[in-house]
Amino acid sequence: MKCPTGIAAAIVAVGLVAWGGDGALAKSHGDPGDALEEQAIAPGLTMPQMDPVRGRDLFASKGCVVCHAINGVGGEDAPALDADTMPVPMNPFEFAAKMWRGAEAMVYLQREELGEPIVLDGAELADIIAFVHDAEAQRRFSDADIPSGIRNLMHHMEEDDEHHEDDDDREEAHD
Ligand code: HEC
Repeated sequence: MKCPTGIAAAIVAVGLVAWGGDGALAKSHGDPGDALEEQAIAPGLTMPQMDPVRGRDLFASKGCVVCHAINGVGGEDAPALDADTMPVPMNPFEFAAKMWRGAEAMVYLQREELGEPIVLDGAELADIIAFVHDAEAQRRFSDADIPSGIRNLMHHMEEDDEHHEDDDDREEAHD
């Protein structure tokens, strides 16, 4: 047995942060470790920092912008990801689940248009999700955020589209 006050303090701390004071899950878990006190998500589970400004860079540099638009900037092959189209509040795992549901189409198109599927680590995905939910960070998103390599790719795609079919309903809104 460990010091009861220590355990109680840990349970209260975790309960307050993660479950709004409920703490039911923490109570059923008898022996909270050090990680639990630092990472208030669930016993044994950690949550990365979610930084919308880093996410803005990643959204462009990883190539999401090739198919998805935010703030009117980006491709039209896939649904726009503006913050005002997202549920508020939103569990970030819901966003990841939506990506997973779209995975088959996304991987196929990414191979076609980027040459290979996008690879993300957990921290990068967390930052992108933060950006997708942050209207303030999105307002400052512009063409200038797109690295030249990605921008060239997008121009090539536009040219390809024009060669394929002109009678698409959705015309380019870009200059
Ligand atoms: C090459 C094109 C392409 C790229 C690049 C791409 N996506 Fe997608 N994405 C799609 C398509 C197409 C769909 C729609 C799939 C469907 O409807 O089944 C989609 C669906 C999604 C969805 C689900 C949207 C919804 O409303 O259900 C999310 C979320 C998403 N993508 C996030 C991302 C993120 C984040 C990135 C960058 C890491 C990314 N996508 C990169 C093409 C792309």
